Amino acid sequence: MKILQDKKIVLAITGGIAAYKTPELVRRLKEQGADVRVVLTASAKAFVSSLSLQAVSGYAVADSLLDPQAELAMGHIELAKWADLILIAPATANIIAKLAHGLADDLLSTLCLATSAPIAIAPAMNQQMWHAPATQENIATLINRQIAILGPGAGEQACGDVGLGRMLDVDELVSLSTQFFTPKILTEQHWVITAGPTREAIDPVRYISNHSSGKMGYALAQAALNAGAKVSLISGPVALTAPQGAHLINVSSALEMHQQSLMLAEQADVFIACAAVADYRVAEVAKQKIKKHDDNDNMQLNLVKNPDIVADVAALTAKPFTVGFAAETQKVAQYAQEKLIRKNLDLIAANDVAQSNQGFNSDNNALQVFTRDQQFEIPLASKSKVAAQLVTIIAAQNNNKG
Ligand code: PMT
Repeated sequence: MKILQDKKIVLAITGGIAAYKTPELVRRLKEQGADVRVVLTASAKAFVSSLSLQAVSGYAVADSLLDPQAELAMGHIELAKWADLILIAPATANIIAKLAHGLADDLLSTLCLATSAPIAIAPAMNQQMWHAPATQENIATLINRQIAILGPGAGEQACGDVGLGRMLDVDELVSLSTQFFTPKILTEQHWVITAGPTREAIDPVRYISNHSSGKMGYALAQAALNAGAKVSLISGPVALTAPQGAHLINVSSALEMHQQSLMLAEQADVFIACAAVADYRVAEVAKQKIKKHDDNDNMQLNLVKNPDIVADVAALTAKPFTVGFAAETQKVAQYAQEKLIRKNLDLIAANDVAQSNQGFNSDNNALQVFTRDQQFEIPLASKSKVAAQLVTIIAAQNNNKG
């Protein structure tokens, strides 16, 4: 059965340029089984047509607080009771401020006060407006009230600025909407997940690192949270916002990640090593910036091996169910299975990082998953979809381990 089957979603659209994507969003939510009704604010009408939204949703679009067509002429109460989820996408700085302050001066703001359904917002605005202290304080207020903040994403904006403030892609929004309906199979469980790259200092201004963006690890954290787990996310330096509800531990080097991982893994049910950890670090970090010398064209760095975090977790007496990743450019299955045994893991997820459309710093991934006696394929999809499937596999394997 589709995860959104028969779920009633109110999609509320406010006045941002990203509103042009909403007919596609309605279509995709319906494809996943949802019943979708659309609320349009006055300014949203400048960006998307009611008629298109009516055609794709199959319902007349609601845009007025006092609606003579609605039962008892109170459309907001009807919709508020009907909804299993209210998704506001795009959500402007204005609606965010109105929600934070409890205003009720139009259909949407009134609906949000009148509902007991979960509310999720997908912010979309200029990057400066997103970073404005007023917006950030309003967002913090909404987070405190358990309103889910989906995004925003970073990139080039309609106004020409570059930065945080883009509405998440339709795919991503559909996938994140499923979190409200994911069966809570992991309540009472603590999952520890590493994500992102490590940075190994050379001197005060230089370091060795890699191309991991943290997207796969953060998607896993989100998927585990969706399924009800308590999540500790040990993250190398990345440009991502931690999923709401995760306990974020920021680290930089492999040694720091090692220390935090071993401390938290002892209390964990599941440990997932998704981080791309540097295998080596510089033996002696220079105290001052290393100077370039005109008479020397070569320079040597003396490297020493970093501890293997996931192998050390797997060696704990109170070992959690331990999952590794394998990033391989050739003989993917063979090398991954060798790592599974060598590091004494319970499960390994192998990604072929030679493919440019998956793995490092991509929005998509595909995984071959191995236990000692089983094998699963997770086909190419967005990292949030892949993460949801991997979390389901890990949960089942952990349950069956006896
Ligand atoms: O972050 P993204 O841009 O989303 O990209 C995701 C990813 C490609 C980084 C991720 O899917 C992934 O494959 N992570 C593991 C990358 C890696 O370091 O692979 P490896 O084959 O070198 O290491 C094998 C396993 O040992 C990994 O679980 C790794 O976390 C772990 N390891 C490695 C070295 C070390 N010193 N300690 C470790 O725990």
